[in-house]
Amino acid sequence: MKTYLVTGGAGFIGSNFILYMLKKYRDINIINLDKLTYAGNLENLKSVESDKRYTFVQGDICDKELVTNLFKKYEIDYVVHFAAESHVDRSIKNPEIFAKTNVLGTVNLLNCAKNAWETADGWKAGVKFHHVSTDEVYGSLGETGYFLETTPLDPHSPYSASKTGSDLMVKAYFDTYKMPVNITRCSNNYGPYQFPEKLIPLLINNCLNHKDLPVYGSGMNIRDWLYVEDHCKAIDMVINNGRLGQVYNIGGHNERTNITIVKTVINYINENVDKEVTDNLIKYVADRKGHDLRYGIDPTKIKNELGWYPETTFEIGIVKTIKWYLGNKEWMKNVTSGDYQKYYEKMYD
Ligand code: NAD
Ligand code: TYD
Repeated sequence: MKTYLVTGGAGFIGSNFILYMLKKYRDINIINLDKLTYAGNLENLKSVESDKRYTFVQGDICDKELVTNLFKKYEIDYVVHFAAESHVDRSIKNPEIFAKTNVLGTVNLLNCAKNAWETADGWKAGVKFHHVSTDEVYGSLGETGYFLETTPLDPHSPYSASKTGSDLMVKAYFDTYKMPVNITRCSNNYGPYQFPEKLIPLLINNCLNHKDLPVYGSGMNIRDWLYVEDHCKAIDMVINNGRLGQVYNIGGHNERTNITIVKTVINYINENVDKEVTDNLIKYVADRKGHDLRYGIDPTKIKNELGWYPETTFEIGIVKTIKWYLGNKEWMKNVTSGDYQKYYEKMYD
């Protein structure tokens, strides 16, 4: 019976991970530590809230006393660290909280895990700290080439710089103390429960409300899209079989320009849901400051070492995703009530 401390489990990827793991394994316990910022939503986990194997704790990863007590109370085998401030545009407007949560919060978790797991002659058997990093730590690609695990880190936005800080602190705990760790660097995820400040759910929400679809700059920036369940599967494989101290890139060679994504969403909704949704909704707006041109992952290492491959093609994943949002309009309504409108108006005024 393994016990996982999942941080940020009420967010997009964290909640998908918890649902995936509880479905896949019978004999596990999951403690979900989440502060419930604007991005955290317990509705995502409604289907497991009365599952005896699942416990929710509201709190901040920066809180030393709270995290120390969690390690005392539960025999934690694995930390799976998702909690973060995750949106690039917000990091451009307000970098401080990114440094605090992403860097200092990660260091606090590492310290508390070290205090609980270090023994006189090494480390408790079988424990591991899994850090969920991002391909954005590598910076931006030109028109050719891919990010390898050995590509030098060259982050540009305050978000990616703070994720690089946390990624390197995890590496430091391995290099210095031999703490059992893994780091995964994944490309852009999409799927159910993603907060509609990120491109794909924002497009779906705006289409359904006949609102403009903001395209930054030329629309020719490229992201490498991965269906969220394939990311969850990869993390599970790395926790179980990843070599200690290793970094694994995760991505499925699904590069698309932003404008292609916009047109894909418009076309699907136009053909299947609402004829009034057309290209007329596209609105080119000022470019994001320091906008990375292109991300593209080379996943050869995780494929060769662990046999991971993405199961969901973009064509299937995007339809599944749009259908999920169509079937969960209440969820969208709830997460876009409150401060969301204010945030949105400030972004594009
Ligand atoms: P998200 O913004 O949807 O969720 C983040 C969660 O962390 C929220 O539930 C929030 O309440 C929680 N949180 C924030 N600050 C906290 C704090 N101080 N203490 C405790 N909880 C806190 O993010 P996401 O898209 O699910 O991303 C999860 C992780 O995956 C992040 O570390 C992100 O950098 C990484 N990642 C994301 C993507 C992507 O495409 N979304 C790709 C690669 C890596
Ligand atoms: P986003 O979903 O914010 O992810 P990230 O910046 O972490 O890659 O953005 C994906 C791409 O879409 C990025 O190139 C910025 C662009 N974008 C738009 O053109 N319009 C939008 O309204 C948003 C949110 C993003």
